[in-house]
Amino acid sequence: AAYTTTAAVILAAGAWQVLKGRITEPTKWQIRMASGTLAILLPIQIMVGHWSGEVAHKYQPAKIAVVEGWCETKDLQGTVLIAWPDDSECGHAGITVPGTSKYLFANLEEGEMLHGMDHYPESERPPMWLVFYAFRIMVASGLGMLAMGLWGSFLWWRKRLDEPGLFHMAAVPAGAFGFLAVVTGWITAEVGRQPYTVYGHLRTVDSLSPVSAGQVATSLLVFMVVYAIIFTAGVVYMARIATRGFDDTPPDPASRERRPPGTPMGAVDEKAETSDDIVAAE
Ligand code: HEM
Repeated sequence: AAYTTTAAVILAAGAWQVLKGRITEPTKWQIRMASGTLAILLPIQIMVGHWSGEVAHKYQPAKIAVVEGWCETKDLQGTVLIAWPDDSECGHAGITVPGTSKYLFANLEEGEMLHGMDHYPESERPPMWLVFYAFRIMVASGLGMLAMGLWGSFLWWRKRLDEPGLFHMAAVPAGAFGFLAVVTGWITAEVGRQPYTVYGHLRTVDSLSPVSAGQVATSLLVFMVVYAIIFTAGVVYMARIATRGFDDTPPDPASRERRPPGTPMGAVDEKAETSDDIVAAE
């Protein structure tokens, strides 16, 4: 997740430079490497995500019931692509691909039932819609990054990656996909395990520390202030670096600092007249 998020940001920064007409050699490599990284890592990430879902199904089945949007317990479930809440507890209209569980949950025992929301009393159910949508936003962001990686790699192969175009326009906002996926993945994992802190053993309501509301409010406020400063400074700094791009004009030998080998950093040899003297000394 960290590598793909980083690659998407690097791609966005490079695409921005190309759109601005600053198409330098390092920028070209920036875009090629970021596209290639996304194309290679995203399929691995999807496999790991799928495996993580199988593990979650084994140890935290109620989480998978809400992730998948399964309402009723059945031996064969479908994949709910999109759905929206209605008046009933779990019944919702949407688009479902039927019978996919036999391929997606291949590690099931013979005749094992796939529990839907109806299997869990209300006090045992995680909040459905937050988890359901968070999971879909994560997967959609992952597929978006995969698409950018494949598209960029295709353009690289066709030798058209350095020409500003639709790909570069799409790559700039796609720089946010990784962050979106990481945050919604975290929401899926953490909200999906509710109402438990330790699934099936310790409920969240029983794991509260004896701390007063005032203490919590104070520490929360301090965190918010400190993070607002650090986060803002960090974002401004990184945005400045990302939008500045590379300077690939070759260094002017005459302007090279006069410092023969072995001189400590910052020390200047007043006797060396030109950079040629330094080269001669080297
Ligand atoms: C595209 C297919 C993907 C699938 C099938 C998938 C699947 C999952 C599943 C099932 C979980 C919950 C795991 C659990 O609760 O134990 C999860 C969590 C998570 N996912 Fe994804 N994911 C995908 C893409 C992504 C992408 C693209 C990113 C980030 C770039 C991402 C980042 C995360 C993170 C940070 C978590 C939280 C992990 C934790 O806190 O334990 N996922 N994912």
